[in-house]
Amino acid sequence: MNKVSFISLILGFASLATACKSGINAQSKKTTSATNTLLETRYKMLLDYPVDSLSMPRSMNTKTLEIHKVPSRDWTSGFFAGNLWQLYRLKNDPQYKEQAEKWTPFSKKESVNRNSHDVGFKVYCSYGEALKAENKKEYEAVIIKGAETLCTRFNEKVGSIRSWDFNKEIWDFPVIIDNMMNLELLFEASKLSGNPKYREIAIKHANTTLKNQFREDNSCYHVIDYDQKTGDVRKKTTLQGYNDDSVWARGQAWAVYGFTMCYRYTKDPAYLKQAKATAKFFMTNKNLPKDGIPYWDFKDPSIPNSPRDVSAAMVMASGLYELYGYTKNKSYLAFADKMMASVQTDKYILNENIKGPFILDHSTGNWPKHDEIDEPIIYADYYFLEALLRRK
Ligand code: GLY
Repeated sequence: MNKVSFISLILGFASLATACKSGINAQSKKTTSATNTLLETRYKMLLDYPVDSLSMPRSMNTKTLEIHKVPSRDWTSGFFAGNLWQLYRLKNDPQYKEQAEKWTPFSKKESVNRNSHDVGFKVYCSYGEALKAENKKEYEAVIIKGAETLCTRFNEKVGSIRSWDFNKEIWDFPVIIDNMMNLELLFEASKLSGNPKYREIAIKHANTTLKNQFREDNSCYHVIDYDQKTGDVRKKTTLQGYNDDSVWARGQAWAVYGFTMCYRYTKDPAYLKQAKATAKFFMTNKNLPKDGIPYWDFKDPSIPNSPRDVSAAMVMASGLYELYGYTKNKSYLAFADKMMASVQTDKYILNENIKGPFILDHSTGNWPKHDEIDEPIIYADYYFLEALLRRK
C-alpha cells in the first residue's frame, strides 16, 4: 500500500468513526428526549390521583393494576406528599404545590403516634419536604412534635430508639438499620427549636448502631435485638432479608444514607468512615449487576434470577450524592450517575400505559413475605426525585 492510499484508508476509518459517533449521539439524544417525555407523563399522573386521607398510594400490582393504598399510620404514608413537594421544586410548577398542600396535613396526626419509629419517615418526608419548599411555622411545629414523639421510644440503657412493637414474643427491643433514617427528624427538630435533646438522642442512637449493626465486611444486619434491661445484644437477625447472615440491599442503602446524613449534622468522622465503608461494600459487590441496580438481597441464592430493588438503588444514589459532597471522591458521583442513568430508561420507568401515581418500576418491598415483589413502590420515587434535586 502506497503512502497516499494508506492515508486515505486512515481518513476513511476516521470519518466512519465520526459518523458512527454522531449516529450514537443522535440515538442517545433521541433516547433522552423520549425518556424525558415518558418521565413527564408519569409525573403528571401524580396530579390525577384523587385526594383521599385514607388512600395514600404505596405500591401497585402492574398485572392486576391494583393500587395498594394506605392510611397515615403506614410507614410509607408521607412519601406521596413528599413526592409532590419535590416535583414542585424540580419543575417549578404550582400544580404540584397545590396538590402537596392538600396531601401534607394527612400526616399531621402521625406526629403524635408513638406506635413505631416510623414517625420519622411519615412526618419528615411530608412536612420536612413542605418546609424545604416553604418556610412556615406550622410545618416546623409538626416536625418538633414528631421529634418529641420519636424520643418517647428511646431507651437510655440500650442507647437506642425502639423500632417496632410487634413480635414481642420473639424480640425484646428490636432496632432496625432503617431507623437511622428517622434521625434526620431529630437533628432538624433541634435546629428548629434550639432544644438539644433531640440531637443528643440521635447521636446516641447512631453510636449504638455503629457499634452493633455492622459486620467485619461493613455490610449490616437488618435487626439487632437488645435486652432492654441490660442493653446487651440478644440477637443479630433479619425480617426482610433472605436470612440472618444475608445482605438485604435496601438495608445497606439506609446505612450509607443514614450515616452520611448524621455526618452532615455532627461532622463526626466515624460516621463518614462507616458510610464510605458500606458504600464500598455495595459498589464493589460481585453480585451487583452492571447497571448498578441491585438484586433485593446480595446473597439471594437465586441470583441472577432474583428480583431487583430499584428503591435500594435510589436511596443509595441520593446518599452517594451527599457523600460525594463531603469527600469529593468522584467514584461516588460516577456511581450515583450510573444508577440514575439506568433507571431513566424505559426498562425502569413505569410503562406509560399503566395509570397510577408512580414513576419507577421494579422495586422489591418485602421478599420473605412475598409482598411487593418487582413493583412500583412510592419510596423508590421519593429517593429518585431527591437524587435528581441533589444532582441539580
Ligand atoms: N423501613 C421498611 C423498609 O425499608 O422496607
